[in-house]
Amino acid sequence: MNFITKSRKDWWKGTYRGTILRLPLGEVVCDDALHFLDCLREECADMIFLDPPFNLGKKYGASSRRDDLLHDDQYLNYMTSILERCTSVLKEGGALYLYHVPRWAIQLSAILWKNLQFRHWIAITVKNGFVRGQYLYPAHYALLYYTKGKPSHFDRPRIPITKCRKCGASIKDYGGYKKYVKDGLNLSDVWEDVSPVRHPKFKHRPSNEIPPLFAT
Ligand SMILES: C[S@@+](CC[C@H](N)C(=O)[O-])C[C@H]1O[C@@H](n2cnc3c(N)ncnc32)[C@H](O)[C@@H]1O
Repeated sequence: MNFITKSRKDWWKGTYRGTILRLPLGEVVCDDALHFLDCLREECADMIFLDPPFNLGKKYGASSRRDDLLHDDQYLNYMTSILERCTSVLKEGGALYLYHVPRWAIQLSAILWKNLQFRHWIAITVKNGFVRGQYLYPAHYALLYYTKGKPSHFDRPRIPITKCRKCGASIKDYGGYKKYVKDGLNLSDVWEDVSPVRHPKFKHRPSNEIPPLFAT
């Protein structure tokens, strides 16, 4: 792999020093999130996607479970700093996506709401969730979608309708609307996700690993 230790690309405030993987389409950086964000110029990002630790006591790399089990106030303060800095590095018209569990998405949304424009709460289906205590079965995570002012870019692709694997017929009956969905359905705010990597044979770390094609 082509690792370098410094970069002067124009999104950095000056010379950035760290662990950088240079790829044809950009740079992948391994750094503490806040430090990384502080090294970026104001209004340099077209799009920001955040998949932060959910504060559920997961173990990431060398960190301990306790690092991901902060008091609610501490976690909220930390995420507030991250989100405020993200708002500063986002370009006018740029988009910010935050992936989180509903319990935190609802609180973090209030922070984003102050300076960004709310677009959608996208429900992403969770596969293999577990019922805990006196709660319903958790079947979705939230993907919050905000923009800085009016979006500079927005696509609403059409996605193929779901068909029966055996007979090829549409699973859902669209009745009189069939002619409108023949070229696909407009993308909605409910998205199906792939399953996380669970099998020990394919896992590189104990928690929250996503298959490489979808990794963030
Ligand atoms: C919910 S997981 C996201 C997983 C990611 N989408 C993937 O497929 O690899 C949260 C990630 O944040 C990383 N992380 C934890 N604390 C961090 C910090 N202070 N700065 C940057 N990353 C951090 C963890 O190591 C973990 O990989």
